[in-house]
Amino acid sequence: MKVLIIGSGGREHALVSKVAENSNVDVVYCAPGNGGTSRENKCTNINITKMDELLKFAITNKIDITIVGSEEWLVQGIVDKFNEKGLKILGPSEKAARLEGSKSYSKEFMKKYDIKTAAYEVFEDENKAVEYLKNCEYPIVIKADGLAAGKGVIICNDFTEASKSINDFMILDIFKGSGKKIVIEEFLEGVEASILSITDGKVIIPFVSSKDHKQIFDGGIGPNTGGMGAIAPNPYCTKQVLDEFYNNILTPTLKGIQEEKMDYRGIIFFGIMITKKGVYLLEYNVRFGDPETQAVLPLMKSDFIELVESAIDGKLGNFNVEWKQGYSCCLIASSKGYPGSYSTGFEISESGKLEGKLFLAGATGDNGIMRTNGGRVLGVTGFGGTLDKAREIAYADMKKINFSGMYYRTDIGK
Ligand code: AMP
Ligand code: GLY
Repeated sequence: MKVLIIGSGGREHALVSKVAENSNVDVVYCAPGNGGTSRENKCTNINITKMDELLKFAITNKIDITIVGSEEWLVQGIVDKFNEKGLKILGPSEKAARLEGSKSYSKEFMKKYDIKTAAYEVFEDENKAVEYLKNCEYPIVIKADGLAAGKGVIICNDFTEASKSINDFMILDIFKGSGKKIVIEEFLEGVEASILSITDGKVIIPFVSSKDHKQIFDGGIGPNTGGMGAIAPNPYCTKQVLDEFYNNILTPTLKGIQEEKMDYRGIIFFGIMITKKGVYLLEYNVRFGDPETQAVLPLMKSDFIELVESAIDGKLGNFNVEWKQGYSCCLIASSKGYPGSYSTGFEISESGKLEGKLFLAGATGDNGIMRTNGGRVLGVTGFGGTLDKAREIAYADMKKINFSGMYYRTDIGK
């Protein structure tokens, strides 16, 4: 079997590593991959980054299954293009990918199907938005409608901050079109959880819960990043929280997918907020999370490729996904200056054997030398019978890795 993974982050490294566990898989191609994917058993990086070339590669090389990392491809309709050529690919159709590609669409969907979410208004006119902000309760949340590489959500503490964000989004157009339309949303206070799930359009099977750590500094302070670490399972996801999630979010979402006649055979990732007033849906992502995937996938006991094939073939109803006991903790190391500007090209050294698993992200590996080439450079995932043990292993492993300007949080999973 030949599998193609599209992307180049830590998430894709974790996908490559998991896929390679299946004994029927002979080769895994990663496009374009990174210095870590090229080191994985069975994996070859291929330097292709255009949709038509990916499609051509998959046809020519008779790829059996393609798995897409980033939302950009999914929103651009890569799944429909592969399906038209009879190729198997995990992901939502272009129509279903709007659940992530447009915040106003996803909020409308949540409202229509009675999915518990924050109150909101949509604006396309800057003056009307500013007028609305004059009578709001603060803090308030302003969201760019379209994709904005994880930077399109601003929590505003007062009118001045909010009107500045409106100006940035709608007039200065900092997101190049994605912020011309905005969602203004009620601020929810609570603890967040990420619930990755898989669907074939008939059922949705949730994976073990996880928790991202989005801000750059300890204690959840400072600007948002792509994610500085993740743990799984999320200790705040009690049975009661998961039951509420199932009844008020997952079940009506499935109904919506069916009633809207979406072709959705892929990953659906629920970003939820656990509040004193119950469990709310913040957002859908139509792909794997990063770094949640590096914490969640290694805990999966079931065969991942069999699971993916069942989803694509519409047979998930027969699949019982099994999980390993225990916890995982994925700790991310970033370049000095990230999420602002940073330098790259520093050599990454490893001293001694790691007990956990190293997932490279923004790192190359030419001629056997690993070098930094991104903001989030790498992650290590530790595993243990308790969360403390998993953390201890991840932190001990991180001490064995070094590069100039290396930074990581000291409180992941605390
Ligand atoms: P989203 O892309 O919608 O998940 O938003 C990104 C991040 O912004 C979330 O992970 C939360 O940390 C925060 N956020 C989004 N919506 C809200 C909200 N209504 N209340 C509080 N925080 C929010
Ligand atoms: N870690 C959050 C995300 O992947 O969107």
